[in-house]
Amino acid sequence: MPETIKNISRAPFRRVVQDLSENKGANILRYGWGKPDVISLGQGEGCAPTPDFIADACAQAMRDGKTHYGPVLGQPALRKEISDYYKRIFDLDLPSNRIFITASGTTAMHLALTSILDAGDEAVAVTPIWKNLLGAVEVAEAHTVQVAIDYIEDENRWLLDLDRVFDACTEKTKAILIVTPSNPTGWYMCENHMKRLIDFTRERGIWIVSDEVYNRAVYGKPRAPSFLDVAEDDDLLLVINSFSKSWAMTGWRLGWLVGPAFAEDVIRDIALYDNMGPPTFTQFGGIQAVKEGEDFIQEQMDQWQSNIEMLMARLGKNPRVKIARPRSTFYAFFKVDGEEDCIAFTKKLIDEGGVSLTPGCAFGEECKGWIRLCFAVSPEKLSKAIDRIEKVIGA
Ligand SMILES: Cc1ncc(COP(=O)(O)O)c(C=O)c1O
Repeated sequence: MPETIKNISRAPFRRVVQDLSENKGANILRYGWGKPDVISLGQGEGCAPTPDFIADACAQAMRDGKTHYGPVLGQPALRKEISDYYKRIFDLDLPSNRIFITASGTTAMHLALTSILDAGDEAVAVTPIWKNLLGAVEVAEAHTVQVAIDYIEDENRWLLDLDRVFDACTEKTKAILIVTPSNPTGWYMCENHMKRLIDFTRERGIWIVSDEVYNRAVYGKPRAPSFLDVAEDDDLLLVINSFSKSWAMTGWRLGWLVGPAFAEDVIRDIALYDNMGPPTFTQFGGIQAVKEGEDFIQEQMDQWQSNIEMLMARLGKNPRVKIARPRSTFYAFFKVDGEEDCIAFTKKLIDEGGVSLTPGCAFGEECKGWIRLCFAVSPEKLSKAIDRIEKVIGA
């Protein structure tokens, strides 16, 4: 810290920012980046570049002068296109005024949480969970109560005991946070549980914040259940979504939030003070993505599905490995017998195997010992990465 600041008795940054919990996943990623010849399956994104038909629409928008400030909640044409998309793919009637375009799913999440959490509030989070949600709760000076889904060894699958979520809610609970389909387990919530949960929250005035960015990445179905399927228009429900995963647009930083119509002004006000809305020209790429992207989504799913077969044929048969077949997303969450310290183990995989994965403890208190692997890579790269994992753990 600079000398001039050391002499001031007041802390230069907000206490909550100084005390932010460590992002163990990001730390291990950085650890791997520093080493030569490391295959990284630690980052949560596919290897495909954004398809040309999307990129071309964005480039054309720039040439057409769509380079000025735009409406804070997004281009009306994109809001309408997403509304049509919900009708076409989900058979849901969601008017444009319930759809708020954001500069990424992460921004949608921040807008959602900062609009509902006061300092001292509690948010119940179903874990394992994408760590950024927990970090955003910390930034809002609220507290997270974690409820873990269970790995059922006999059945080799993940299962949520919904009663544990109900039991975790107190008078201070302002929101329940769920990532469904789940990064990192590939589990997703069934419609029946969604219905029971929304009935529960409706009675108590609790928000559900549902991160559904992997909604289209479900194997054997066109899409996963959404809380929007079971909600009334005015329910306290905020659904986060993103162009990043299904349309291969991680670098674009484009997403959206769906909320009740009465939230529109509040979200607009916060977004105005946050970033004044998403970039203008990227949204024209977004329009093409939702309009014409179905073939591309299917292509990616086929590729990921065949990678699952490879994973299950190799790691799935390894006597030291516990791994449930991913039902959605492009992650496998697994455990290796005898390797209880996931930080030490992920470092060992980097140092001795040359492969970088994500430690499970990055996804919640009860996930120690688990490891996440992103299989949205070429089959050749995945095969080579598995060779390297097997070099460390045996085949
Ligand atoms: C569950 C979940 N939500 C949101 C995001 C981030 O989305 P975006 O790239 O739109 O910020 C990720 C990225 O890994 C994620 O796993």
